[in-house]
Amino acid sequence: MADELYSPTPEFSQRAVVSSRAAYDRLYRAALDHPEEFWGDLARQELHWFQPFNKVLDWQPPFAKWFLGGRTNAAYNCLDRHLSGARKNKAAIIWEGENFEQRVLTYQDLFRRVSKLANVLKRLGYKTGDRAIIYMPMVPEAAVAMLACARLGIIHSVVFGGFSSEALKTRIDDLNANLVLTADAGQRRGREIPLKRNMDAALAECPGVRHSIVYRHKGAEIAMREGRDHWWHDLMFGAPEDCPAEALDSEHPLYVLYTSGTTGKPKGVVHTTAGYLLQTHMTMQWVFDLREEDTYWCTADIGWVTGHSYIVYGPLSMGATTLMYEGAPDWPEPDRFWRLIEKYRVNVFYTSPTAIRSFIRLGDQWPNKHDLGSLRLLGSVGEPINPAAWKWYHQVIGKDRCPIVDTWWQTETGAIMISPMPGAVATKPGSATLPLPGIVPDVVDLRGEPVPAGQQGYLVIRRPWPAMFRTLYGDDERYRQTYWTKIPDVYFTGDAARRDADGYYWVLGRVDDVINVSGHRLSTMEVESAMVRHAAVAEAAAVGRPHDLKGQALVVFATCKGGVPKSPELVEELRQWIGHEIGGFARPDEIRLVEALPKTRSGKIMRRLLRELVTADKISGDTTTLEDYSVLLKLSAEGKEEEEILEQKAKNTRS
Ligand code: PRX
Repeated sequence: MADELYSPTPEFSQRAVVSSRAAYDRLYRAALDHPEEFWGDLARQELHWFQPFNKVLDWQPPFAKWFLGGRTNAAYNCLDRHLSGARKNKAAIIWEGENFEQRVLTYQDLFRRVSKLANVLKRLGYKTGDRAIIYMPMVPEAAVAMLACARLGIIHSVVFGGFSSEALKTRIDDLNANLVLTADAGQRRGREIPLKRNMDAALAECPGVRHSIVYRHKGAEIAMREGRDHWWHDLMFGAPEDCPAEALDSEHPLYVLYTSGTTGKPKGVVHTTAGYLLQTHMTMQWVFDLREEDTYWCTADIGWVTGHSYIVYGPLSMGATTLMYEGAPDWPEPDRFWRLIEKYRVNVFYTSPTAIRSFIRLGDQWPNKHDLGSLRLLGSVGEPINPAAWKWYHQVIGKDRCPIVDTWWQTETGAIMISPMPGAVATKPGSATLPLPGIVPDVVDLRGEPVPAGQQGYLVIRRPWPAMFRTLYGDDERYRQTYWTKIPDVYFTGDAARRDADGYYWVLGRVDDVINVSGHRLSTMEVESAMVRHAAVAEAAAVGRPHDLKGQALVVFATCKGGVPKSPELVEELRQWIGHEIGGFARPDEIRLVEALPKTRSGKIMRRLLRELVTADKISGDTTTLEDYSVLLKLSAEGKEEEEILEQKAKNTRS
């Protein structure tokens, strides 16, 4: 059956930045044939330079440098350059809190706050190259903190507010950070998130952090440690408003963002300044088709890469008005998002498939109560969007008028890589469609050979791109090993995909031990390491199970140490333990305490079998290397599977 094709309407295309398929093809071709000229021209036109670059790309695989010799500053590009024209009093950030509080910061407001905070940081002795952790709720001050660091060349690392003190500590340690910016507390679903208390617990074991700056957000009761902790408002009071942006090398690290990998240790993804900014800036035009008067809303949290690229750096670099909402989508009622869209006349709306699926479940009456007529364009990110959810989004939210941009990218890629240009490329529900100009993906087998159209293979990127991460913080070797050695000469994304006869990409999901829960990457190894740190646990294996709402859900199998009795109380304690070790969002859906885990003869846990067990609750794959079938029989939820497994075993032995 041919895929359904949704073409942009002539009205949309006419006003779009890229307005026809032919225009897209020309851009793509130009970037393919002359990549350095293509990116070099854009960088000169679109960014402000204190000093022009003299070379576009230095590619010593797998290490790239872009715009060599150039000097620029991300905060300058996001703020200062908008102050000389009509944008100076334009809203940069519109914020709404869960309790309906509202704030609007114009570009001038934001500029003043960022400059003042940068002066505060200077006064405390911080300078270019220092490393700051930002552990804040979704408030404008989170963006102020990021931009103040960027202004001085202090490398920031935002830690999602849902992470626990343990996870925070690991990140502070790895980054060797000497500054933390936080708030007394955040809020979600009416509950306070004790950020400062979590920070205190983390800092008890992080002596390298000299200062913390605490923004008073909720008025929560907290303890301030003399000499180390400072109130944000105290330091900001009277701080000078003039703080020139540092002219930083194009390759100066802008931030490190930790993401889950296939080992227990999170990876510090390093992004640098000029290339990252250029590509986030360009994708605001190419993908979001941004207009000067738009109200643009990305619902991600600032703690994930989507928040970095598409709440802060991309939109502000474009001089956009970006909406920021602190709180849950269904609070106090399931129509909160639609209320926000109606209230602020949102034009471009960017959210996740998990959110969309949960809205479907809540019922059409909630969006139907509101006037969504301001919407022009809808976006999706974080996980594959199933065609049914895509169609609901198109019909019920977009009223069959708004194109949907399904954007494929990763923390590592920094910016959107595969996505329709909405005025140019017809969409197919479930496909991220075509690569953006300058991006050269492929679908290959393990030897790096392209697989035929329609067949599943590994998604790789063949050429360097400006916003690509440069390495893993302090670990070039892990960078090389993880991304550049699995398949020769290309960047290995960790995703499976297929490309159809029209060249459209269909991203199918991860092929490594990373699972995607509600669009958040979770490493099964990280969860397993956390499990075995608990005194009762001997061994653990974590796997993903398909989930209607979240895409995938986490299921953990564990064995107990000798003499520890299995009980529902222990299961609950272990769930809480994962919350303590990683964060509430990582708590498994299910923990199964079992007698033993299935292993190969060489002692490796066979996660593939466990995955099958939780998916279909039966075992069908090759089990010839399995040491002890009886283990699987016990694990299998129902005794009737026994026969099938034995049958399978017999078949394997015969062949
Ligand atoms: O598996 C892909 C999935 O999310 C992974 C990247 O996760 P993260 O680094 O946390 O970044 C999320 C936000 C960019 C990818 O390897 N993914 C992301 N977007 C899509 C997607 N899968 C399918 N379609 C997408 N549009």
